[in-house]
Amino acid sequence: MVCFTISQFFVLLLLLFAMTLHKGICGANTKLSCNGKDRSALLLFKHGVKDGLHKLSSWSNGEDCCAWKGVQCDNMTGRVTRLDLNQQYLEGEINLSLLQIEFLTYLDLSLNGFTGLTLPPILNQSLVTPSNNLSNLVYLDLSFNEDLHLDNLQWLSQLSSLKCLNLSEINLENETNWLQTMAMMHPSLLELRLASCHLVDMSPLVKFVNFTSLVTLDLSGNYFDSELPYWLFNISSDISHIDLSFNNLQGQVPKSLLNLRNLKSLRLVNNELIGPIPAWLGEHEHLQTLALSENLFNGSFPSSLGNLSSLIELAVSSNFLSGNVTSTIGQLFNLRALFIGGSLSGVLSVKHFSKLFNLESLVLNSAFSFDIDPQWIPPFQLHEISLRNTNLGPTFPQWIYTQRTLEVLDTSYSGLSSIDADKFWSFVAKIRVINLSFNAIRADLSNVTLNSENVILACNNFTGSLPRISTNVFFLNLANNSLSGPISPFLCHKLSRENTLGYLDVSYNFFTGVIPNCWENWRGLTFLYIDNNKLGGEIPPSIGLLDEIVEMDFHKNNLSGKFSLDLSNLKSLVFINLGENNFSGVVPKKMPESMQVMILRSNKFSGNIPTQLCSLPSLIHLDLSQNKISGSIPPCVFTLMDGARKVRHFRFSFDLFWKGRELEYQDTGLLRNLDLSTNNLSGEIPVEIFGLTQLQFLNLSRNHFMGKISRKIGGMKNLESLDLSNNHLSGEIPETFSNLFFLSFLNLSYNDFTGQIPLGTQLQSFDAWSYVGNPKLCGLPLPKNCSKQNIHDKPKQGGANESLFLGMGVGFVVGLWGVWGSLFLNKAWRHKYYRIVGHVEDWLYVFIALKFKKFAELRASSR
Ligand SMILES: *[C@@H]1O[C@H](CO)[C@@H](O)[C@H](O)[C@H]1NC(C)=O
Ligand SMILES: *[C@@H]1O[C@H](CO)[C@@H](O)[C@H](O)[C@H]1NC(C)=O
Ligand SMILES: *[C@@H]1O[C@H](CO)[C@@H](O)[C@H](O)[C@H]1NC(C)=O
Ligand SMILES: *[C@@H]1O[C@H](CO)[C@@H](O)[C@H](O)[C@H]1NC(C)=O
Ligand SMILES: *[C@@H]1O[C@H](CO)[C@@H](O)[C@H](O)[C@H]1NC(C)=O
Ligand SMILES: *[C@@H]1O[C@H](CO)[C@@H](O)[C@H](O)[C@H]1NC(C)=O
Ligand SMILES: *[C@@H]1O[C@H](CO)[C@@H](O)[C@H](O)[C@H]1NC(C)=O
Ligand SMILES: *[C@@H]1O[C@H](CO)[C@@H](O)[C@H](O)[C@H]1NC(C)=O
Ligand SMILES: *[C@@H]1O[C@H](CO)[C@@H](O)[C@H](O)[C@H]1NC(C)=O
Ligand SMILES: *[C@@H]1O[C@H](CO)[C@@H](O)[C@H](O)[C@H]1NC(C)=O
Ligand SMILES: *[C@@H]1O[C@H](CO)[C@@H](O)[C@H](O)[C@H]1NC(C)=O
Repeated sequence: MVCFTISQFFVLLLLLFAMTLHKGICGANTKLSCNGKDRSALLLFKHGVKDGLHKLSSWSNGEDCCAWKGVQCDNMTGRVTRLDLNQQYLEGEINLSLLQIEFLTYLDLSLNGFTGLTLPPILNQSLVTPSNNLSNLVYLDLSFNEDLHLDNLQWLSQLSSLKCLNLSEINLENETNWLQTMAMMHPSLLELRLASCHLVDMSPLVKFVNFTSLVTLDLSGNYFDSELPYWLFNISSDISHIDLSFNNLQGQVPKSLLNLRNLKSLRLVNNELIGPIPAWLGEHEHLQTLALSENLFNGSFPSSLGNLSSLIELAVSSNFLSGNVTSTIGQLFNLRALFIGGSLSGVLSVKHFSKLFNLESLVLNSAFSFDIDPQWIPPFQLHEISLRNTNLGPTFPQWIYTQRTLEVLDTSYSGLSSIDADKFWSFVAKIRVINLSFNAIRADLSNVTLNSENVILACNNFTGSLPRISTNVFFLNLANNSLSGPISPFLCHKLSRENTLGYLDVSYNFFTGVIPNCWENWRGLTFLYIDNNKLGGEIPPSIGLLDEIVEMDFHKNNLSGKFSLDLSNLKSLVFINLGENNFSGVVPKKMPESMQVMILRSNKFSGNIPTQLCSLPSLIHLDLSQNKISGSIPPCVFTLMDGARKVRHFRFSFDLFWKGRELEYQDTGLLRNLDLSTNNLSGEIPVEIFGLTQLQFLNLSRNHFMGKISRKIGGMKNLESLDLSNNHLSGEIPETFSNLFFLSFLNLSYNDFTGQIPLGTQLQSFDAWSYVGNPKLCGLPLPKNCSKQNIHDKPKQGGANESLFLGMGVGFVVGLWGVWGSLFLNKAWRHKYYRIVGHVEDWLYVFIALKFKKFAELRASSR
């Protein structure tokens, strides 16, 4: 849990849900009661909808349908014209017979959980005859129904009045003809959004697609990996917004882009585009947005960009640009957002900013130095400033204090070591987000009161005791500093009662004393890291009140006592690390079903492995090593670690003791680990363990196990590390071992194995010490040759066994990432919020993760 850890991987971007909340639903504004035909069409639509949260409770027969939630009528005719059911947690079918409502012009069913769509017979025909005059629909938004699959979009060409179409986040992977289908749509189409639709083919060879009057095209977040297609540069004379960000587009930006004379916004962020950023882009005089960040562009920063006087946003960060930045950017007086980074360097002076009167976001993440007079008064008032990775230090610059509207301040990795404490803390108290991490700032925090929503001060040299926090603070990371003293004044302070803290990381400091029993004040905590300190005493009972907690880490302290807390009510807890303390008593039994990672290593836990662990269906990492646990392994425990089970997975970071080294292990989310080493366990190793096909790491060394290694071990295809040393295992080493292709660490030493080490397998590639201490074992790599009687004439192990195990992993891999995975990994989600969050970092993802949790609960309860 150094510094950032889990936050880094929480790419759960549900901010949209928060953002659209205020948008609300258009109510009705009429006295005229609604048309009977329209009402029954709506009721038939409702029939297919699963409405677990009763959002459509107003939709009942007796009422005027113009007063129903989301319905809007023409107040003269009483005919339904708009239906807006955006984000109502609806599931089930979208029955588009709804389109037979004659005067419906606006339909928004976005941000729901619909899983199917049925068409009325008249639309469900393969014969396409546009201009059927079938519907008056102008606006259709079905986006963000992620479980909706549409295999054929031809019916859309019959919606001849359509101007705006948004199908983002709908799965269109099997509509391979999407481009032609879209182009066949009536010339009325102005806006087309197909972001994150799993589209693969951008038809780079197609020369011409007639979109006639298209103004906005959003194809971001798909899987296009061709060069920019030819047709794009002749798509329509009106095109003004193109977004192809978050694809894998290749090649250079061709000069035909200049054909699109009306282009105002070009977004190509996060692709694999190469070559220089073309100087001729400076001829695109109408360009307001140019976003080319996160590509492979090299060469210098083209000074012609300084001519684009209409520019409002310029983003070229995270490329391989080198050299200086022309000071002509200082002339871009319309600029509101400037993102520059990569390998650019050189000295920035006030000239680079001289006319940036309208600048709101300044992000300079590269090794720039600054030649700026301390008395400089900038022409701008920024909302956001990020000078990460610059040579800003050693002193926090004076000019930043002139910025009175700052919401985000990021000066991490910028060589700061000194701040003017009197001025600094009261200044940052007004800023919503501050990140000063990875500097060498030495300052005493004892008398500081923090007030920002998100505070990241990790990896500095802050000293003194924990600062006070106001009730605004939601995210606090103080890891890796030199803070000391007790933590109880902070935790038991009276003010803490109304706090909103959700994330607290004080790991890697020098805190002493006990963990106080004041956790009833911190019921909103979701992530708690107090590991790697010098805290003693017991874990207090009020920890059990943290019913929102997802992860807690106490490892490497001097904590002791019997751990007898009942954590089974902490329904969201997925990660607990109690390792490297002095806890005693029996292995805790009362864990919630949500538990995924449980680490108790290096304590004094005793007794048996409780069968209650069998009720933890999501366990993927169990480390009970270096304790005093005895008895045998209950087989049920490990059938539960079986790979077939779905686990909604967080990205964890924890130490895996592998190959004797302590590695920080970033779990990929797919594989499972079991470490029971150095205990007093005995009996046979349950054969079920050798059936765990997703196990990656297995350590049962230094116990008293007896019996043989099952031949089934050949099915453990993902095994990378196996340590069974220092037990009393016997029998021969099964040659099915040769199926373990990923095995890179093996220790079978100090057992009673017999016979020959199977020849002609990778077993010979391990050192002899993998096998030493087995007097009856022979053959390479051991120096001892096998005599005749060691070598049995065994039947050759055929492919039959092998095929038994083949393919077992697939379901798991797919299932695992199912629900959350798509959110963690989906490029478009990241993209969607790029404009909002972008460079604003990981902490925000956590914030959003929390929001998502609420949403997930709502959805669950609506099932
Ligand atoms: C009908 O709606 C229009 C636009 O929404 C509004 O300006 C007008 O006042 C309304 N008329 C009545 C009678 O409510
Ligand atoms: C869709 O609605 C139409 C009438 O509007 C109805 O006839 C049809 O059965 C519905 N389809 C489904 C699958 O519910
Ligand atoms: C179209 O009709 C066919 C059969 O006529 C049916 O199987 C299919 O589900 C329909 N498609 C939609 C999207 O309604
Ligand atoms: C059919 O289309 C014409 C012209 O496009 C339009 O004036 C008319 O209102 C439409 N009729 C219906 C029923 O949508
Ligand atoms: C879908 O696209 C339309 C038109 O561009 C836009 O106004 C709307 O906000 C989008 N819907 C969502 C949920 O983002
Ligand atoms: C697309 O088609 C393939 C092959 O038929 C199928 O396996 C896959 O599930 C389909 N995808 C969707 C989203 O329907
Ligand atoms: C594009 O489509 C429009 C409307 O259908 C038509 O008028 C125009 O001629 C077409 N352009 C070309 C080059 O085919
Ligand atoms: C654009 O397409 C039209 C119609 O095919 C063609 O006449 C014209 O030459 C194309 N323009 C470019 C620059 O390719
Ligand atoms: C960048 O600017 C500095 C002076 O500010 C100059 O010494 C250096 O040569 C410039 N480098 C390039 C590549 O232009
Ligand atoms: C923190 O301060 C200590 C003692 O002054 C010093 O030895 C250490 O190098 C500092 N650490 C950093 C990262 O500057
Ligand atoms: C904190 O404030 C108290 C009371 O104002 C003062 O006595 C103490 O010296 C201050 N400590 C530091 C480190 O500034």
